[in-house]
Order: sequence, then structure tokens, then C-alpha cells
Amino acid sequence: MAMTELSTPKTTSPFLHSSSRLSLSSKLHLSNQFRHLLLPPLHTAPSSKISCSVSQNNQAPVAVQDNGSVKTKKECYGVFLFGPDQPIALKLLGSERSIQALEGVAMELEDSLFPLLREVDIGTDPYEVFQDVEWALLIGAKPRGPGMERAALLDINGQIFAEQGKALNAVASPNVKVLVVGNPCNTNALICLKNAPNIPAKNFHALTRLDENRAKCQLALKAGVFYDKVSNMTIWGNHSTTQVPDFLNARINGRPVKEVITDHKWLEDGFTESVQKRGGLLIQKWGRSSAASTAVSIVDAIKSLVTPTPEGDWFSTGVYTNGNPYGIAEDLVFSMPCRSKGDGDYELVKDVEFDDYLRNRIAKELAFEILLLVLHVFLLDVGEFELAFEGFETGVGIFHVGRGEIY
Ligand code: LMR
Repeated sequence: MAMTELSTPKTTSPFLHSSSRLSLSSKLHLSNQFRHLLLPPLHTAPSSKISCSVSQNNQAPVAVQDNGSVKTKKECYGVFLFGPDQPIALKLLGSERSIQALEGVAMELEDSLFPLLREVDIGTDPYEVFQDVEWALLIGAKPRGPGMERAALLDINGQIFAEQGKALNAVASPNVKVLVVGNPCNTNALICLKNAPNIPAKNFHALTRLDENRAKCQLALKAGVFYDKVSNMTIWGNHSTTQVPDFLNARINGRPVKEVITDHKWLEDGFTESVQKRGGLLIQKWGRSSAASTAVSIVDAIKSLVTPTPEGDWFSTGVYTNGNPYGIAEDLVFSMPCRSKGDGDYELVKDVEFDDYLRNRIAKELAFEILLLVLHVFLLDVGEFELAFEGFETGVGIFHVGRGEIY
């Protein structure tokens, strides 16, 4: 999926199937008015309780006392993704096989009467669909089934992201921001950016916001607080079962998590594993990958880049590691703590703390990701590029990776 922020409605390429042009501002205004008339106002009173019916480790649902400070999560469906005045055009990329389904999605989007959605176009040629886009959300990939690891998808999905990188490189807006969601997203993001040399590597992201949200949820449940009380949550590494959710630097109500949750064994084992394995557990239960929470986390990830980060807080996103202050190997996509001024760009947070546990976990995750990357990428025809891995106790040297060769 790709998005363009519109100043005025744009014309559509004749090569795109246009599901229907939503340059219907008058109709949309009417619809909004109509909705306001029919629907009761949103309930804005603070919620007094959160509970979770699927409790791991027999953790009891948590009741939270209403002290009047619980905020509602505004605009959680991303209706105002880029602010209340910014119309957008959506361009949806599918394959010949999926075009019918894509038409169905476009119909649903139209029928949702999103107040700022002005165009929905669908197509199967990335060189058409990505033309001039300012945000590219690379979601389309084969999802994993029960019992699979995400890394097992790389052989199938790697090619998709190499092709999409080339297409973005050729036709997207030169400052396009790219958010890779298809698994394994960090490796796919790296493959994509290596195939798009005209686009700043800094503009590529791999979605670890879903993990950040999952981690916040688990900590909130354990501490008996509403999730908006959990801040400074870093996910280090990949969106994988070896990722490192950082409870050392996270805060609850402004206090270090380890002061609030004194069961440190749970933090190291139960908490960490529950975040790492959440996606797999969900697949086991539901028979398919997460969808709604992923969609919400995509919206959260974009919002984090287009709105200034609250003072003292940060968010996690998988970004290119060049020039990072933590000693993470260069030339990778790795999730780290970031802040944004709200201009679509970000900077890495400098003042994070490391202890032996966190360092060891990150070093293991790093070594594991590098191994996977080298093993997979050199078997695939995803372009020739060099990967330089040094630092953070890996010290495994510099590889040149291309089809069938590695040295
Ligand atoms: C998730 O974490 O829910 C998704 O990445 C799907 C998956 O394969 O786990």
C-alpha cells in the first residue's frame, strides 16, 4: 500500500485500475454531517478497568482504579493519520491473482467514508502504483502459519522486497518513507533499501511498533495500570522470537519498571518471552496472523514520525544502523529507541542505560540476525551489496553478499 498526502486531488495514471475516485469532497462532508446526526458522541469518560481474558502464566486480569487520569486513545483508527486537515490518496498494490480481493478492499475503504480519503486506486504494477508516493507501507507478503518462524519466509518474501525497492527507487517521491511490515520485516527492509540507492537509507523502517505495543500491554497488566502509563519502551533487534524488549529503560508512571515490578525473574523470563512469542501464540489460537493490532501499530508507527515525541519519551522502530551510538553492528536494520520532531524524520535516543543482561541479550539477537541474514541473503538473488558487521561483541567481519557467493 502506498500513500500520498494531497494538497489538491491528484490525477490518476491511466494504467491504474481506479476503483472509483473519491474526489467527492461535497459528498464526504454530507456523509460526515449525516454521521454526526445519527451516531451518539463518543464516550469520553475515563475507563475504570482493564482486564485481559487471555492471561499467560495464569496472570489474573487486572482492575485499575479510576483516578480520572486515564486518557482515551484518540483517533485510534488512523482517520486523521497525518493531522485533521491532510487529505490522502491511497494506492493499493496487488498481484493479478489478488486483484479481485483488492477491489473488495477498495470498496470497503470507500464505504467507510473516511473523511480525509480522497482517492483509492488499485494496480498490479509497482512502477505505476508507487509513482510519486510519499509513504509506502510494504505489507503484502506471505504470512507464516502455525509453528513456523518468521525467518522461514525470507526465501519467499525476499524477492518481493527487492522488486519493490527497485520500483520505489525509480518512481517514488525522492524522500519517500518506507515502512516494511511483511515478515521478516527487518531483513526485508534491508533488502529493500539496498535495492533503492536513490532513497536515503534513513527513510526505511521495519515495524516493531507491534512489539512495543505488546510489551506495554504486558507491563501494564502486570503493574495494574492503564497502558498509557508505560513509556520509554524499546524493542531492540528484529520483529522475531529473539527480539529484546527492554524493561531496564522502560518506565511506568515515570518510574523505572524494575522499581514498580519487583518480580525481576518475571521480567527476564515471562515478560520477555510473552512479547517474543505473542505473534506465534496468536496464530496458534486464531489460525492466522494478527491483523487489527498490526494495523493499529502501523498507524501508531506513522504517527510517531509525524507528531513530535512527548518530552522524555521515545518509540521503537527498526532503522538502518549506520552511525548508531550503541555499538550495534553497522549496515543492518535493527530496532532501536527513536524520537521525532514530527517532520517524518527521527533521531536515535542517546541516553539509554545498559546492564549485563541487556547487553548480552542484544549481542545474542545481533549475532542471530546476522547469521540469518548471511545465510538467507546470499542464497537469494536480491542484489549485490556489502554488509559490514562489527561491534557489539559480534566482530564477525565484513561480508560481500551476492547471489551464490559470500566472502
Ligand atoms: C505478528 O507478530 O503478529 C505478525 O508478525 C505475524 C506473525 O507471523 O507473528
